[in-house]
Amino acid sequence: MTPEYIIIHQQAQPHIAHVQLNRPKELNALNLQLMQELRDALKMLDEDENTRVIVLSGNEKAFAAGADIRQMAGKTAIDMFNTDQFSTWDAIKKIKTPMIAAVSGFALGGGCELAMLCDMIVASETARFGQPEIKIGVMPGAGGTQRLTRAVGKALAMEMVLTGRFITAAEARQAGLINSVVPQELYLQEAFRLAAVVAEMSPLAVKMAKEAVLRAFDSTLEEGLHFERKNFYLLFASDDQKEGMQAFIDKRTPVFTGK
Ligand code: CAA
Repeated sequence: MTPEYIIIHQQAQPHIAHVQLNRPKELNALNLQLMQELRDALKMLDEDENTRVIVLSGNEKAFAAGADIRQMAGKTAIDMFNTDQFSTWDAIKKIKTPMIAAVSGFALGGGCELAMLCDMIVASETARFGQPEIKIGVMPGAGGTQRLTRAVGKALAMEMVLTGRFITAAEARQAGLINSVVPQELYLQEAFRLAAVVAEMSPLAVKMAKEAVLRAFDSTLEEGLHFERKNFYLLFASDDQKEGMQAFIDKRTPVFTGK
């Protein structure tokens, strides 16, 4: 079925897929259907051998202004529990293919959390990041208190979560939340440039490296180092390891096949 609230460009560039959030009138507010469509699209792309990197964007005005407040406003705690509003996020967390968020305009609440669920964030100078849930009587519910704190530290995370203040792209860059800031007309181009660099690498090594970096958030140093070493050893079962090392010795560019 054709999705209603997202646009999928499966081969936007060689080996790079582009998924665009597309509820522009509502500033890409993340309703349940949008999140289900996004989960299904990302799972489909994750299973596609030709897709090595996924770029996720909104539009110039908004990456996403958060979970859909209108859809949530009348719900009870039991409704929230029964619909398990954020269960789609668990599936997105399991995507192995690297994801780059290309953010312009608002990335607020669930929008900021969705960008943080991606592996890298490229922002336009106009981007604004925030967790303003406190202003509507709730708090972040899809990772804002955890991923934001790990990314920017307690002081700024606490300020953003308790006051709802938005930070600029420059401040987000300074705080370590995002990878780069570029003029608005270049933010998608920059995300694709970064994606193209990653897409040239062995896709197996990239997926295992992503998995190991993310493990750093959930494990002790000892467990993380052990996990890293296992993935490193495992890559010696791949053609890409042989090709990559032989190409270095031959002084040529490697051709990775993902095998
Ligand atoms: N949910 C539903 N609709 C939203 C929305 C949201 N999160 N954000 C914006 N919209 C809608 C507005 O209601 C408005 O619709 P109408 O034209 O039908 O009135 C339209 O998008 C345009 O928005 P504004 O007129 O408000 O645009 P603005 O430029 O004046 O302000 C804004 C932009 C500062 C982003 C403002 O819209 C805003 O504060 N939005 C809400 C941000 C927010 O609180 N996000 C957190 C949501 S809760 C959450 O995300 C929980 C979680 O952890 C997952």
